[in-house]
Amino acid sequence: MKKQRICVIGGTGFVGTHLVHRLAALGHSVTLTTRRPERHREFRLHDSVRVVKINPYDSVALQTLLTGHDCVINLAGILNETGNSSFQTVHAELPRIIVKAMRESGVSRLLHMSALNANVNESHSRYLKSKGQGEDLVQQQAGLRVTSFRPSVIFGPGDSFFNRFATLLRLAPPVFPLACAGSRFAPVFVGDVVEAFVVAIDDERTVGQRLELCGPKIYTLQQLVQYTAQQIGKRTRVVGIPDFMARLQGHALGLVPGKPFSIDNYYSLQKDSVCSVSALSSLGIDAHSVECMVPAYLADRHTRAQYDRYRASARREV
Ligand SMILES: NC(=O)c1ccc[n+]([C@@H]2O[C@H](COP(=O)([O-])OP(=O)(O)OC[C@H]3O[C@@H](n4cnc5c(N)ncnc54)[C@H](OP(=O)(O)O)[C@@H]3O)[C@@H](O)[C@H]2O)c1
Repeated sequence: MKKQRICVIGGTGFVGTHLVHRLAALGHSVTLTTRRPERHREFRLHDSVRVVKINPYDSVALQTLLTGHDCVINLAGILNETGNSSFQTVHAELPRIIVKAMRESGVSRLLHMSALNANVNESHSRYLKSKGQGEDLVQQQAGLRVTSFRPSVIFGPGDSFFNRFATLLRLAPPVFPLACAGSRFAPVFVGDVVEAFVVAIDDERTVGQRLELCGPKIYTLQQLVQYTAQQIGKRTRVVGIPDFMARLQGHALGLVPGKPFSIDNYYSLQKDSVCSVSALSSLGIDAHSVECMVPAYLADRHTRAQYDRYRASARREV
């Protein structure tokens, strides 16, 4: 494996943190861009990681920064829009700025993070539509060597799927009403996603490909949330709510700060997030299962919950 100079954009979040640590461990030299370096001091542990404050929408600054790199990885993405970040800006406009800056700085290799079901013709979910727009745009760049990645939901330490449901379940009554309970997923482990990026960096066979990434098993959302409850030691019963209530929930919770669920999330969940063919095995990666990995990072809380129940029953007995 050749050591590369890699610029990671959007690499300070969940997937990026795992990826940047792995790239550094493999001896690559990493430039990590962020809008807020003061929040990401943990990357200073690596001599080979340089954290750079930049406005990624400033094409001139980006072009200057990219000069001398071998590869760009774009992970920037949002799940919900906020006042100053729209899906269109982050998922479609930013990729356009990145490919322009790559051309002008002479960098030709791009690994681009999209999402399963991303589709420019998607009529309802603006998340999936904008992701599809950005992916099509980068794949259509003649002269650039582009690989895009289309994962189902990604899980692992620090994820916002199992961890978020665990938080909600801890606060929930004994019956937990769940929107879109029948939607199906093939959750993919973050370590496997990271390995897919690592392999693709210098695997020319992946150039021009849109790689779907899925874990080994398919579950409904209800099964995954019920499993989370088990893991944290809650006896909560997870029940699906009718479609009209799910829509209402999307509209209502979309107004709550932090948007725990939005109408765009509702639309994204109308299509199963499962692969036609997962690329992991063709990349030589054995996919890890939910059952194998999740208990390890929800376990501490599970143990604590068991201990809390024991303490509570012991107090009742005194
Ligand atoms: N997690 C999943 O289950 C999943 C599934 C499918 C696809 N994906 C895709 O995978 C990528 C990484 O996901 P993640 O879970 O690691 O996300 P994350 O933890 O939310 O991190 C997102 C990254 O995007 C950057 N970012 C956020 N808002 C931005 C904006 N307005 N303009 C420019 N950059 C912005 C942030 O960089 P700063 O340091 O500058 O804030 C951060 O590093 C995303 O593209 C996501 O759509 C994720």
